[in-house]
Amino acid sequence: MCGIVAFTGTIDAVDVLLGGLRRLEYRGYDSAGVALVPRANELICVRRKGKVAQLAAALGRETAAPGREAPVAPTSSSAPAPAGTTGIGHTRWATHGVPSEANAHPHRDCSGKLAVVHNGIIENHTALRAELVAAGHTFASQTDTEVAAHLIEHYYQGNLAEAVRQALQRLSGSFALAAVHAAHPDRIVVTRNDAPLVLGSCAYGALAASDTPALLEHTRDVIYLGDRDLAVLHADGRVECYDPAGSHYVPTQVRVEWSLEQAERGGYPDFMLKEIHEQPRVLRDTISGRFAVENPGLVFEELPFSDRDFANLDRIQVIACGTSYHAGLIGRNLIEAWARLPVDVEVASEFRYRDPIVTPRTLVIAISQSGETADTLEAVKLARRAGAFVVGLTNVVGSRITLEANAVIYIKANLEVAVAATKSFLGQVAMLTLLALHLGYHRGFLSTAQVSEIYADIQKLPAQIEEILADTTAIERCAEACKDAQTVLFIGRGVGATTCYEGALKLKEISYLHAEAFSAGEIKHGPIALIDPDGLDDPTKATPVVVVAAQSATYDKTLANIEEVIARGARVVALATAGDKRIAELTERVISIPPVRECLSPILASVPLQLFARAIACARGCDVDQPRNLAKSVTVE
Ligand code: F6R
Repeated sequence: MCGIVAFTGTIDAVDVLLGGLRRLEYRGYDSAGVALVPRANELICVRRKGKVAQLAAALGRETAAPGREAPVAPTSSSAPAPAGTTGIGHTRWATHGVPSEANAHPHRDCSGKLAVVHNGIIENHTALRAELVAAGHTFASQTDTEVAAHLIEHYYQGNLAEAVRQALQRLSGSFALAAVHAAHPDRIVVTRNDAPLVLGSCAYGALAASDTPALLEHTRDVIYLGDRDLAVLHADGRVECYDPAGSHYVPTQVRVEWSLEQAERGGYPDFMLKEIHEQPRVLRDTISGRFAVENPGLVFEELPFSDRDFANLDRIQVIACGTSYHAGLIGRNLIEAWARLPVDVEVASEFRYRDPIVTPRTLVIAISQSGETADTLEAVKLARRAGAFVVGLTNVVGSRITLEANAVIYIKANLEVAVAATKSFLGQVAMLTLLALHLGYHRGFLSTAQVSEIYADIQKLPAQIEEILADTTAIERCAEACKDAQTVLFIGRGVGATTCYEGALKLKEISYLHAEAFSAGEIKHGPIALIDPDGLDDPTKATPVVVVAAQSATYDKTLANIEEVIARGARVVALATAGDKRIAELTERVISIPPVRECLSPILASVPLQLFARAIACARGCDVDQPRNLAKSVTVE
């Protein structure tokens, strides 16, 4: 997803912009660019297809490495000549127009004096472009963003903020914008609607960015701009904010506690591995403080519900996308089992375009690690209009979902940099597990003793994950046996099937190897045809089938499925409970997880599947942190 950085101040802007863009790389992008005002009435625009490193080279700079010290004002005569102290930067994730230098941001107006960077989608760009072309404007790209540059030019009469304000009234869609003008080398104007933008100021200037990590080197006190608000960043560090009616207001600053080290790899070869290894910590943080000895129900102060409110619910609707959707599927099994409440789980992109049945007695749980997913946010708005109480489950403080939902439950994953969700997924599943216990207890279906017993088993999970992480030899061996396959199938039953859905998504998104998950009971109804019978004679042709076969109520049936696929020529990788001799007799490729209660098994079983996907992706030479075509926050439909 596109990333914006803007800086105006008293030090060289290029390093600040490049450093910020590096910190936004995790969002996924295909081109990058900056516009700088080196002196009054001059605007330089440099753009490159590819990575920020290529842009840095074009600017004659080393890319600032994440984690370096905050820049200080140049004091000696040996300091590089500044390329201006005001500029805007951008990483683009193509939506309108192919990835190319011409479509890369910033985009300029006809005069070449005004430049704009943008994240999101301007929905009425076609009509506006036609209008501006008719008025004599010349366009140089296929992007919706360029419309904003020409529209601001259209209204510009010497006051940039006023021109942006007028243009803003004509724009529909979700967008965050930053605009700079050669005539105003000491300011930047920013605005947003339904797209993220965080502002801040420091001793040497004022900044804005699409996400907090890009500001952390410079400030820890940030401002979240409201929808259709406008802000003027001044080189002396002032940030002037205006509401949609144009009234000036003093913004509230929020202190961010995340350290810069949290954004670094911490000695691991990639963020994904680091984040997989952080999962025991995530679980401990998630669990901590949720159980009160004197009150055997769990502590969910975020939920303003009495027992009567809980009893009055007639169903739960979970809405989410991708990995968060899979967390929802796991949550459904637990809530239905423990709280005896029907749960529907639906991908937000479908939910919002149906005419779903949502009433004031429906509890909606919207899951989004980023809190910025456009489809999920729209689904939340729809549910609220229907009178439902919406609980947002997210990892990002101050994200959009926290503003749209009635109540917010934060998972404790902290900043997740790798595009593929790992620790945030585990945090979501763990939180849904606790929530299911809470609902079960307050609806009278779980006794105090049952809650305590399950909770005691949840507390064992972090150490059990550490056990899995301590020896990954079997996982790597199994990955080696599957890395050259055309397709990998995943099968399981019950919560094992939901674990498989996530395992297959992880594999396909980071290794580009086709993977598909099925409920094991369904394979003979179609998918078993995918198993290549040549595998019976030639092991190199055997189709890999990953079977989640931990101890469960359906264990024997899963074993029968293993025999079934082996008989058709499959190469089985089994994820089984440690010490399982029956599985060992069927396949030599076994990945073990510690013994665990069936309902909690997805939390353990997901970890080896994450490592399995990563090992295959690394063996295939893929960039596991920034898989192609994917973005960390999907802020457009
Ligand atoms: C996959 C992944 C995506 C996200 C999906 C929803 O690893 O991360 O499938 O889960 O794009 O994102 P959030 O949770 O931010 O709403």
